[in-house]
Amino acid sequence: MNDILNMTVGQTEIHPVIKGTINDSIPVPTYFKEYKQIQNSMLEKAQKIIGTKMPVYLKLGIGRVGLETGLYNIIDENTKVLTIDNGQWGHFGGTLSKNMGAEVQFMEGQKGKQINFEQLKEELTKNHYDIVTMVQNETQTGALYNPQRVREIIDEVSSDILLFVDGISAFGGTEVKFDEWGIDVYVTGSQKCLNAPQGCPLVCYSQKAIDRMNKIKQNKKFYFSMALDNNPEYLFARGLNDLFDSLLKDGLDEIYKQHYIASKAVREAIKILGLNYMADEEIVSPSTTRIVFPEELQKAIDEDREKLGIDGDRVTTIMKDKYGVCIAEDRIGTMGFYTRKEDILRTIEALSNTLKDLGYSNDKDKALEKVEEIFGN
Ligand SMILES: Cc1ncc(COP(=O)(O)O)c(C=O)c1O
Repeated sequence: MNDILNMTVGQTEIHPVIKGTINDSIPVPTYFKEYKQIQNSMLEKAQKIIGTKMPVYLKLGIGRVGLETGLYNIIDENTKVLTIDNGQWGHFGGTLSKNMGAEVQFMEGQKGKQINFEQLKEELTKNHYDIVTMVQNETQTGALYNPQRVREIIDEVSSDILLFVDGISAFGGTEVKFDEWGIDVYVTGSQKCLNAPQGCPLVCYSQKAIDRMNKIKQNKKFYFSMALDNNPEYLFARGLNDLFDSLLKDGLDEIYKQHYIASKAVREAIKILGLNYMADEEIVSPSTTRIVFPEELQKAIDEDREKLGIDGDRVTTIMKDKYGVCIAEDRIGTMGFYTRKEDILRTIEALSNTLKDLGYSNDKDKALEKVEEIFGN
């Protein structure tokens, strides 16, 4: 598997900086003050990237553990939640809340489409809610949603309502301004735009969320309770610390721009190959492109998946086995370090060859030229 280029939407290939950390020795156990210094330093840098003066917490576990932690501390059986649901991960915030005993209303929108802001305002005006949940980057559809815009609508009704944002596949690839945008809970992921190992989400709470947490905390006594503070873990804390150093040195704006360019190159090139993408232009994601295949090819892909499993479809299989590029079935990730021109060129070339193998002629040279053009050569 070594020379496969991993252009999925997570676990992405591990960042060279993190690889260095993992190979390094562990000088002190986590109860020594040197470890605490590393952890604190990492969390301070995380604050800068999240755009907040509030404390940030390291939680161990997959992204869903981060989401569960974020919600667990602000939900009880009297909580009313409105979930903005334009896809799988938007929906998931509501499912979690419901499982925790909240009363949840799903505001279902179309996949790949903008949030219906009029409907949001109407729903918030008509019924009382304590929390609105949303996803910043809907990884299922390649759509980027705007927490600031949602906050503005919420504030027109009541600024007491908390805004919970799943930032798992957005963090590190697009900007977030926690304080300025009025987010109340933000959860990051590690295995996506950070190119870190899956397992170290960060959670951040606003003062309003902490006040709510304190009101309901007598019922919160277990692992997900923030009373436990940070989870110590040498490799993750040290790895993220080194990585954040490197990201801040490169400059966040530069990194976000690289995601923007790489995803634009993917979108423009796949159009030349005769494909399309799901998200409306207004909300295209810088880190995820959901491909729309021609109808009959999509039908064949669906049949393959039914027989062979989600990764068994003909496009994914040929791309990986014959051309050495792994995409996330129908999504191409442009995440973190792997937004380089050479990665995009290799991915588009593999996709073009695969389509040709399947009988879909296309102009590979023109698509590759487009990538070069968008990267500015
Ligand atoms: C937006 C979003 N939220 C949550 C998750 C879940 O992350 P994990 O698989 O680490 O639990 C994912 C994973 O794809 C995601 O894309």
